[in-house]
Amino acid sequence: MTIQRICKKDDVPELGSMKQFDLKESEFLVVNTGRTVLLPRGSMAPMQLAPLAEGDLDGDILTCPWHYSQFRVSDGSVVRGPANNPLNVYDITR
Ligand code: FES
Repeated sequence: MTIQRICKKDDVPELGSMKQFDLKESEFLVVNTGRTVLLPRGSMAPMQLAPLAEGDLDGDILTCPWHYSQFRVSDGSVVRGPANNPLNVYDITR
């Protein structure tokens, strides 16, 4: 397993907040749900480049700003389409 430093714990301090970070030409969305999770941009295949950081976060549900698919942040599952594929979700090591 590879560990990469994306941000500091205090960079996304508020419960229910999210922020995008860049690392090695990739973009990652860090979401503070109490159990902070990481969503790599492009994980919404085949709709790969949606700017999820511009989406709406309501509790554990993230709504994509482009076609309004909804995902459960805790496990990446699709709550409402048109997306068919879940998001890739990774836990943050503090
Ligand atoms: S790009 Fe996210 S729902 Fe279509």
